[in-house]
Amino acid sequence: MSYDLEQRAAEAIARRAGKMILEGMRQGFDVDLKGKNDLVTNVDRAIEVFCRAEFETLFPNDGFLGEEFGGQGPEGRQWVVDPIDGTLNFAQGIPMSCVSIALLDSGKVVVGVIYEPYRDELFSAQIGQGADLNGQKLNTSSTEVVADAVIATGFPPLKTTEDEDNLECFAAVTRASRGLRRLGSAALDLAYVAAGRLDAFWEFHLNPWDTLAGVLLVSEAGGAVTDERGGPYSGFENCVVATNGLIQDELLDTLQSAL
Ligand code: 2AM
Ligand code: CA
Repeated sequence: MSYDLEQRAAEAIARRAGKMILEGMRQGFDVDLKGKNDLVTNVDRAIEVFCRAEFETLFPNDGFLGEEFGGQGPEGRQWVVDPIDGTLNFAQGIPMSCVSIALLDSGKVVVGVIYEPYRDELFSAQIGQGADLNGQKLNTSSTEVVADAVIATGFPPLKTTEDEDNLECFAAVTRASRGLRRLGSAALDLAYVAAGRLDAFWEFHLNPWDTLAGVLLVSEAGGAVTDERGGPYSGFENCVVATNGLIQDELLDTLQSAL
């Protein structure tokens, strides 16, 4: 089964949404607090409204789930959209954020598109068809040990019920690896693992709109994605661990030693 039409549509919509990020950066925006340290701007909302309208017109039978306005449950097909992943970066004027669009079909990610407008980078994957960046095929890195790896993580705003604040893991991987990065956009971190720019990424307490597109990019580029115990990651688990595949077990051991 081909999802070519859906992938092309997601790419076109992501590009237009990315233009809205750039325009917002140029023209200014209003910031609201959703929760402690958890920001949203009028640009996030406008992009989500735009994406929803486009997908509803093109694929009226599909469901839609967005970060800012929610959506229907995941029966059948569902578009899962993060209008801006890396909103805090966006609000600070740091050019490190993106649009993330995934298509779920019966709970499985079948299309994943991430567009980063500042460098005009379009990361795109379809299940069984590989992943590419602006049309060039992507492969994960060939780094074989954590000691030689450059690894990213992140810290979503803490909720009081959450145990893991990631600081022990952050320390353990900082000590064990070549370098640790904290870029502020989980979707871009995953796209960079797919592109071999990063060897691995992990983060706790993310949401499916942050991760689903990136997870397909990583697996289609030859990498591995699990939860923190090495079990399957479907978008709803506590933690996502994505690597080039070669260092998956070693990174999982390093994280477990710190948990
Ligand atoms: P966002 O910019 O779309 O909100 C940073 O570590 C990552 O955490 C980003 O991908 C960010 O996505 C996400 N994030 C921000 N607030 C969050 C929250 N309240 N819950 C879960 N993830 C969040
Ligand atoms: Ca967001």
